[in-house]
Amino acid sequence: MEIKEQINRDKLPDHVALIMDGNGRWARKQGFARVKGHEKGVGAVKDTVEAAAELGIRFLTLYAFSTENWNRPKYEIDALMKLLVQAIHNEMKSLMDNNIRLTTIGDLSTLPAKSQKELQRAMNATSANTGLTLILALSYSSRWEIVEATRKLAEDVRIGKIAPEDIDSKLFASQLATAGIPDPELLIRTSGESRISNFLLWQIAYTELYFTNTLWPDFTKDDFFRAILDFQSRERRFGLTSEQINQVEATKKKRIK
Ligand code: FPP
Repeated sequence: MEIKEQINRDKLPDHVALIMDGNGRWARKQGFARVKGHEKGVGAVKDTVEAAAELGIRFLTLYAFSTENWNRPKYEIDALMKLLVQAIHNEMKSLMDNNIRLTTIGDLSTLPAKSQKELQRAMNATSANTGLTLILALSYSSRWEIVEATRKLAEDVRIGKIAPEDIDSKLFASQLATAGIPDPELLIRTSGESRISNFLLWQIAYTELYFTNTLWPDFTKDDFFRAILDFQSRERRFGLTSEQINQVEATKKKRIK
């Protein structure tokens, strides 16, 4: 049976987050410049977005450019920004045809004006789409996001809008860039690295982690489906015991009947 057919459509993760890693190593292995790996990586982005939309997943967050990536050589940053603008431009029709809403998290103000403009245009054009929400993390880092949220809350306390004791995890989460988006249930990282690299630290408290050796440019729809299948084989306990989880499931089933 095809991998996709083995997926249980009733047990899909609502939100999948992805650290796309290994473009540089893929290029070096083929004897190419690093940028070639990013170019090939755009194809894997397309396939993955399509795969998520085909399954009916509601949110997909891609770590496209981290705050730390600004320290890369200028020509590589320029190439990545150019690829981003081109990819969005070329995929506009496909985003509309597939009912995909594009949105971003990160400090967009640090991006070149042209990238900001193209992103804004695509976000406006797709804002009413109701299928998959594709979230691009751009100039994003989790510590940046947490510090920003803390500043906003501190300011609200200073002006008397809230009291310190009003701050709980719900209020804190409402100040993050991901406000209104459910926490990811599955986080995939490619290229054999087992790190989180400053990505969604708050949001992945209970997320299932999936690491694959595949380099990002080689990542296919089947690789994505494989990760979903692996996710479905796990028992998620959220700090409870197996017995408690079984009870919760049984009660849910009874309610549905
Ligand atoms: C990591 O590989 C990848 C990136 C830093 C950028 C990812 C960007 C793309 C796939 C292209 C544009 C994105 C979109 C959304 C259209 P790496 O360079 O760190 O690889 P290495 O660890 O092997 O050096």
